[in-house]
Amino acid sequence: MTSLFSPLTIGDLALPSRIVMAPMTRHRALHGKIPGHLNALHYAQRASAGLVITESTEIDPHSSIDVPTRPGLFNDEQQAGWRLVTGAVHAAGGRIFVQLSHMGRTALPSQLRDDRWPAGPSALAAAGKVYTANGPEPYVEPQALTPAGIAGIVAEFANAAARAKNAGFDGIEIHGANGYLVDQFLRDGSNIRSDGYGGTVENRFRFLREIIGAVKAYWPAGRIGVRVSPTNPFQDMSDSDPVAHFAAIAALLQPLGLAYLHVVAPAIVPEGQADVAPAIRAAFHGPLIVAGGYRREHAEAVLAGGGADLVAFGEAFIANPDLPQRWRSNAPLNAADKSTFYTTDAKGYTDYPSLELVDE
Ligand SMILES: Cc1cc2nc3c(=O)[nH]c(=O)nc-3n(C[C@H](O)[C@H](O)[C@H](O)COP(=O)(O)O)c2cc1C
Repeated sequence: MTSLFSPLTIGDLALPSRIVMAPMTRHRALHGKIPGHLNALHYAQRASAGLVITESTEIDPHSSIDVPTRPGLFNDEQQAGWRLVTGAVHAAGGRIFVQLSHMGRTALPSQLRDDRWPAGPSALAAAGKVYTANGPEPYVEPQALTPAGIAGIVAEFANAAARAKNAGFDGIEIHGANGYLVDQFLRDGSNIRSDGYGGTVENRFRFLREIIGAVKAYWPAGRIGVRVSPTNPFQDMSDSDPVAHFAAIAALLQPLGLAYLHVVAPAIVPEGQADVAPAIRAAFHGPLIVAGGYRREHAEAVLAGGGADLVAFGEAFIANPDLPQRWRSNAPLNAADKSTFYTTDAKGYTDYPSLELVDE
C-alpha cells in the first residue's frame, strides 16, 4: 500500500518519499530580492523532503509586491543567489523546484518600474488590502492586459525558467494558485474577458497553456509542475463552479506529461465548500500533489486511497526541518511560531531544532 515513505519517480526524477515541502514565502532574501546563505541553510536543513518547492519567486520587476526581501529570479545576482541554495540542497541529498510567480492585479503601483500600473486579466480590483512596508494598502484597479502584454509576461516566465536552469534547480513550478496572475486568469471571478483568454474554461486556461509552452524551451514537461487552488478565497478570489472548471483544467493538463499537478484544497473540507480534489483526481492521472492542512494521518489516508500521489506540508516543514525523520521514528513535532513567519532574520527560520538521534 502506498504510504508517505513509498518512493515515486516524477518525470525522470526519483523521489525517496511522497513528502513534499510546500512553497512558502518567508521574506528572508537579501535586499534586492537576492537569496543568500541564510536561505541556503534553511532549504538545506529541509532537504530530506521527497521534494522541496521554494517560496514564490518573482519573474520580473513588474510582478512584484513591496517587500525587498521577497526573492526574484530576473537578474544575475538573484540567479547566483539561488545557485547557493540549490547547491546546498543538492549537497544535502535533496531535490528542489522553484515556484515562479507573477502578482498581476495584486501588485502595487509604488513597486513597479517605468510608471507601470498593475495589470490583470480584467479591470477588477481585488477587495481588501495588501501588506506593504508602510502598512496595509488597498489593492488598485488593474489594467486589463492586452494580448501583447500577455505575450510579454509569457516571455518573462520563459526567461525566469531559463535562469532557473542556470541556477541549478531540478525543475520549476508555475504558480497558478492563491490569487496571483495565473490564478486570476483561471478563475471566472477575476477573469471576465471576452477575447480568447476569457469566457470558456479553455480560454481561461490559454494563458497557462502558453506559459507551459514557453518554458518547455528550457525544461522537459517532466520537470514542470503547476499549482492551482480552486477554492481558496485569498485575495478576493472566487469561481462560479470550481469542481467542474478545475476538473476541466486538470483534463487539459493531463496530456501535457507534466512532472505534477499540485492542488491546494483543504484536507478537511469545510461545511458548504465544494470538494474539488476527487474530481481533479478523476481527470488527472499524472502525479498529483495535494496540500492544505494535512496531518500525517490525513496524508496516509489520501495516499492509501489513491486520492493523491504526494502530499505537501507547509507549517509542519517550517517548524520541523527533519519532518520525514520525525515521522519515521514517531517523534513529536515542534509547533510553528506564526509570529516569525514573515520576519526577516534567522529566528523562526533556521533555528528550529532537529531530532537528536539516539543511535548517533
Ligand atoms: C508562511 C507561509 C507562506 C506561504 N507562501 C506561499 C507561497 O509563496 N506560495 C504558495 O503557493 N503557497 C504559499 N503558502 C501556502 C502553503 O504552500 C500551503 O499550501 C498552506 O500552508 C497549507 O499547507 P499546511 O496546512 O500544511 O501549512 C504559504 C503558507 C505559509 C504558512
